[in-house]
Amino acid sequence: MYYTKRKVKKGPIIILGIIILVIILAICGINLYKKYTSNEYKLGEKGYKENEIEKILKFDDKYITYAINHDYEDDFIPLVEQKYFIWKNYDKYINFIDDEYGDKKVDYSRVVSLVNVGANNEPYTHTKKTDMDKGYAILVNKYNSLPDKYAPKDIVEMSNWYAYPDNSIRKDVYDAFKEMSAAAKEDGYTLIVNSSYRSYEEQKEIYDDYERNRGKEYADTYAARPDFSEHQTGLSLDVFSPGANMSNFADTETFKWLSENAYKYGFILRYPEGKEDITGYNYEAWHYRYLGKELAKKVFESGLTYDEYYAYYLDD
Ligand code: DAL
Ligand code: ZN
Repeated sequence: MYYTKRKVKKGPIIILGIIILVIILAICGINLYKKYTSNEYKLGEKGYKENEIEKILKFDDKYITYAINHDYEDDFIPLVEQKYFIWKNYDKYINFIDDEYGDKKVDYSRVVSLVNVGANNEPYTHTKKTDMDKGYAILVNKYNSLPDKYAPKDIVEMSNWYAYPDNSIRKDVYDAFKEMSAAAKEDGYTLIVNSSYRSYEEQKEIYDDYERNRGKEYADTYAARPDFSEHQTGLSLDVFSPGANMSNFADTETFKWLSENAYKYGFILRYPEGKEDITGYNYEAWHYRYLGKELAKKVFESGLTYDEYYAYYLDD
């Protein structure tokens, strides 16, 4: 018996082998290329750990690009994660953290709040004219001033029914206060205004008195300097219950009513307790700022001071 020896042609097998090899190499090459050009890899090269990379990759593209192109920064992620983080303030946050915290544990929420409102700077050292086009939403504080010797035009006298003698306020604010006063009355509370619109000269007198008697530092926590006071806007009222004063009004039921209801009539508590380093003033349970109903509701619901709200939502 003969078996014819079939000759196996090696050529095509070799070619097939080469093709398969080339394909395998190409796939490996593409995968390696993908790996080394991926954001994940680049962030790892910067020193970010796996869990940090996971967080960064969920951020907006501009933050990812920033992290890839800058050295590892341990404040980066916690800052970007803050609800009120403002990108253009990033360098200021970092500088403030360096100056203020050193090696101490950083309170990022506080950093963001203070820098957003400008309170990383000494009061009255970095001031600008406030944007008067904002109407009832204007921001007036130790960093944002009124135009020189500003005086509103629509000031009206308040009747003794609503205020102690010699009080006046802008017409719309008066109307809103009357409405609030009637609602408070319905619930059994009486509101009485003891300070309202103050001219530049009146505010100067108040501030100078404090300064003369108690020094500048003390004066600055109780009174605004002229052109920096909300009272000069004609949009703020100091509201009490009859017989109450600055030291006991916060403990009254009338204050409780105002805390819960003032926003419904367009007013907000402007200098709340615990926010002194943001507003720059002591807690003032009596100082209410008119914003109009719509904005007052939003500010109330945000739980922010007006300085913070304005910085995040209204500043252009
Ligand atoms: N007491 C407030 C801050 C003012 O003087 O305007
Ligand atoms: Zn006041």
